[in-house]
Amino acid sequence: MKIINPFNGERLDRSGDYLVDSLDNSYPIVRGVPRLVGGDNYAENFGLQWNKFAKTQLDRDRLDISKQRFFAETHWDRECLNDKHILEVGSGAGRFSKVVLEHTQGILWSVDYSDAVTANYTNNRAIAADRFHLFQASIYELPFEDNSFDKTFCFGVLQHTPDFEASVKTLIAKTKPGGEIIVDFYPIKGWWTKIHAKYILRPIIKRLTHTRLMALIEANIDWLIKVHLGLHRIGLGLLTRFLPIVDIKGTIPKSLSSAELREWAVLDTFDMFSPEYDNPQRIAAVILMFERHGAQVTFAGFESFDGASAAVVRGVKRR
Ligand SMILES: C[S@@+](CC[C@H](N)C(=O)[O-])C[C@H]1O[C@@H](n2cnc3c(N)ncnc32)[C@H](O)[C@@H]1O
Repeated sequence: MKIINPFNGERLDRSGDYLVDSLDNSYPIVRGVPRLVGGDNYAENFGLQWNKFAKTQLDRDRLDISKQRFFAETHWDRECLNDKHILEVGSGAGRFSKVVLEHTQGILWSVDYSDAVTANYTNNRAIAADRFHLFQASIYELPFEDNSFDKTFCFGVLQHTPDFEASVKTLIAKTKPGGEIIVDFYPIKGWWTKIHAKYILRPIIKRLTHTRLMALIEANIDWLIKVHLGLHRIGLGLLTRFLPIVDIKGTIPKSLSSAELREWAVLDTFDMFSPEYDNPQRIAAVILMFERHGAQVTFAGFESFDGASAAVVRGVKRR
C-alpha cells in the first residue's frame, strides 16, 4: 500500500520518528501512530472519551457485542478476507479493529481524526502488528490513493462528520472497483426522531466544556439509570426519550454487571451529548448518496444483534 501525503499527493516514507515526503513535509509518529493532523479539532471530545474509556466496549470473556455487530452488519466471510486490504474510518478505541485483527486474516488500515488512535494502538497493536496500520487523519484527507481497498467500513462515524455525503463519497473513492463499502449511522425514522432529550438539550449542553459535561454525567448517572429502567418496568419506556441518558434498553448489551452497565451508560451518554456534529439521515437518502458516487447498493435497512439494531447500507463500487 502506498502511503501519501493527503495534502499534496506525494509519497510518504518513514524516516526515524516521522513520515516525510520528497518536499520535506513531515508528520510525527507519536505513541506509535503517524499523526497527519493535530488533536485540536472538532473531534477532541472523542479523544477524551476513548482514552478515558479505552477498554469499556472492547470484547472480552463473555462480552462479544462488537463481534456480533461487525459480522451482522458486514455479512463478511472470514476466509474471504485473507490478505485483503480493509479500510476502517473512525475507529475510536478500536472495538472493531480488534474484531478484524482477531477474527480475520485481513490487513487493516485504520484511521481516526482524534487522539482515540492512542487508545486503539495500545489496545490492539499486540494482536497482529504486521496487519495493523493506524493513522490519525481525517476522512477528508486520507493518506491513501483512490481505488486502494478491497473492503471499507465506517461504523458510528458518518453522523459525526460535517458533511455526511462528502464522507460517503470519500469511502467509495478509496475502495477498489468491485470492492465493498459498508456504513452504519443514526437513522431518521420519522418526524419524532429529533423530539429527544439529545436534540432538545443540545443548545444548552453545547455551552459546557467537555470536562464539565463529563462531570455532570458522572454525578447524575445513578438516578438516571434507575428512572430509565423504572419507566421501562412500568410500561412507560416511551418516555425515556425525554431523559438525558443514553437508551440503555436499546443499545447496551444485556450481559453486563451493574458496574459495567454504569460505565457504558456514562460513556454512551457523553458520546450522545458531546459531538460537534450530529446529523442523522434517512436510509433512502444514504442509498442515493451511494448511487450518486459510484456504488451499487446491495442492502439497505436494519441489522440486528444482541437485542439492538443499526441502520446499515452496503454497496459495491461499480467497475
Ligand atoms: C462514535 S465514535 C465511533 C468509534 C468506533 N467506530 C466505534 O463504533 O466504537 C466516532 C468516531 O469518529 C471519529 N471521527 C469523527 N470525524 C472524523 C473524521 N472527519 N475523520 C475520521 N474520523 C472521524 C471520531 O474521532 C470518533 O472516534
